[in-house]
Amino acid sequence: MTPKPKAAIFISGRGSNMMALIEASRDADFPVEFTLVVSNDPGAAGLAWAASQGIAALAVDHKPFGKDREAHEREIDAALKAAGIELICLAGYMRILTPYLVGQWAGKMINIHPSLLPKYKGLHTHERAIEAGDSFGGCTVHWVSEGVDDGDIILQAQVPILKGDTPDDLAARVLIEEHKLYPAAVRHLYAR
Ligand code: GAR
Repeated sequence: MTPKPKAAIFISGRGSNMMALIEASRDADFPVEFTLVVSNDPGAAGLAWAASQGIAALAVDHKPFGKDREAHEREIDAALKAAGIELICLAGYMRILTPYLVGQWAGKMINIHPSLLPKYKGLHTHERAIEAGDSFGGCTVHWVSEGVDDGDIILQAQVPILKGDTPDDLAARVLIEEHKLYPAAVRHLYAR
């Protein structure tokens, strides 16, 4: 059997989407193998979980780099290339990337965002959808481009917004869909 392409996941926090991807990748027919998890936060809970699964878990703390975002990214980029990574899945990675890293990984980097893009790029997506009186919220997996949350859409899932929903209620309903959508989007990429 030919080896699967190696993929990395970037996280900044709890990493529930990372877990969903890694769990989905245990299926023999999943198209990639996740071999590396990267976080800008050494304290990210998801890193310990990844390590417990036998997956290389790399923290590259952004703080010592100060305002030099590109230097931080160059260190991450070197690790990705050394590990032979072919696909990057951003999963709750809460740093805006510079054109440097986006350019290095053009066509090989995807993200999950908790809104029905192009609506509600950036933060506080659920709060904004509720305040706008929308009937639906959702999540999007998209290619990463230089604009924030702006690349071509790969797949979306929607959920109803119910009367009286708080942002946390909606976030929880959307997160259930995120955990299904992200693995489906990776499968979709390799099914083309
Ligand atoms: C997810 O809801 C993801 O869509 C969102 O952060 C959460 C991370 O949760 N991402 C963004 O807002 C990116 N702009 P997780 O760490 O449990 O996967």
